[in-house]
Amino acid sequence: MNTPIRFGVIGAIGRGAGHLRAIEIHRDAKLAALCDLKEEQVTVRAKELGVLAFTSAEEMMDSGEIDAVIVGTPMPLHVPQSIMALERDIHVLAEVPAGVSIEECRDLVLTEKKSKGVFMMAENYCYMRPNVVVKAMAHAGLFGELYFGEGEYTHELKGLNEITKWRRKWQTGINGNTYPTHSLGPVLQWFGNQRVISVSCVGTGHHYRDPRGDQYENEDANFTACRLSGGGLVNLRLDMLSDRPHNCAYYSLQGTDGCYEATRGLGDQPKVWIRSHHSEKSWHPLADFYDEYLPEHWKNPPEEAGKAGHGGGDYWIAQDFIDAILKECSPPIGIHEALDMTLPGLVSQISIQQGSSWVAVPDSRNW
Ligand SMILES: NC(=O)c1ccc[n+]([C@@H]2O[C@H](COP(=O)([O-])OP(=O)(O)OC[C@H]3O[C@@H](n4cnc5c(N)ncnc54)[C@H](O)[C@@H]3O)[C@@H](O)[C@H]2O)c1
Repeated sequence: MNTPIRFGVIGAIGRGAGHLRAIEIHRDAKLAALCDLKEEQVTVRAKELGVLAFTSAEEMMDSGEIDAVIVGTPMPLHVPQSIMALERDIHVLAEVPAGVSIEECRDLVLTEKKSKGVFMMAENYCYMRPNVVVKAMAHAGLFGELYFGEGEYTHELKGLNEITKWRRKWQTGINGNTYPTHSLGPVLQWFGNQRVISVSCVGTGHHYRDPRGDQYENEDANFTACRLSGGGLVNLRLDMLSDRPHNCAYYSLQGTDGCYEATRGLGDQPKVWIRSHHSEKSWHPLADFYDEYLPEHWKNPPEEAGKAGHGGGDYWIAQDFIDAILKECSPPIGIHEALDMTLPGLVSQISIQQGSSWVAVPDSRNW
């Protein structure tokens, strides 16, 4: 693969815009084209950046001007546009979640198998600094044997539902966990080589209506209990409707030799208790472990990394994707890891329909 890798961004006026900076500043990447249905805005933005503008993803992919695409469009378009790219051997960095139905996820896997394109899901919460440090500590065995974790996504978006209308159908218009990857992704990475084998989802009932007076199909809050292949349990909390301040990135982890709790806000800080380091069972700042457990490349990043969003996290997503393309290796959140983070949510929607019964989660590696 020749460098720089030429990138096109679909959904460039929405979330796709968040990825532009990381691509623009990366030494092995070159922003080549933007695509969005909002013709006027995409034309203006593309002109500002000196790149091509498209309103059709297919035309952009057939232009011969891009080697890789970022799919930053609404959830139901992730699989169709990823497949469109992979069928043309174009590399794909897709927004979360990977797909909106088990059937289309299977189609994605089968297409990826045949393609020369690399697929990676841009699960950015896995790249948050505390989550990266906890992963290194967990893999070094500091928490002992892991057996419990939590991930919570509480983000009231009743207003946003009316602006980005696809959310009213795909996030709050279906019961169950419709947006699992931010909560589950980092926790699954901490547990290492495990996946969710079955889920049971339970909801709180309904206390809000949309501006038309219709009840949201999704219950206000729900819990999805996830049984892991190693026997452990992870609980996911999703709440997109309750009136409350948001906290999209609460996590906890429990092992036989230590535990972790993320911040709940108001001056709280991420904290741990680690048996081998702390004689009394009291909380200590996670930050005490940054020097030793933050990966070397995070400690000494190239100058351009600091210019990307999310405390450099966006840069490292782009870096991992570009590395996978150039070194012809699997990205850290490749097709199966993406589906390990996505499928439990889709199966939770079946579970809640069946009175919270435990439902098996398919393993995409068998497809
Ligand atoms: N990782 C994160 O932190 C994060 C944050 C926000 C959104 N997201 C994800 O990003 C995606 C987009 O969310 P958003 O909030 O930006 O939505 P949005 O509706 O604000 O933006 C989507 C953009 O895609 C464009 N678009 C729609 N259909 C298109 C098509 N067929 N071809 C080209 N462009 C098209 C729209 O015109 C719009 O500009 C969602 O899947 C969401 O889950 C992720």
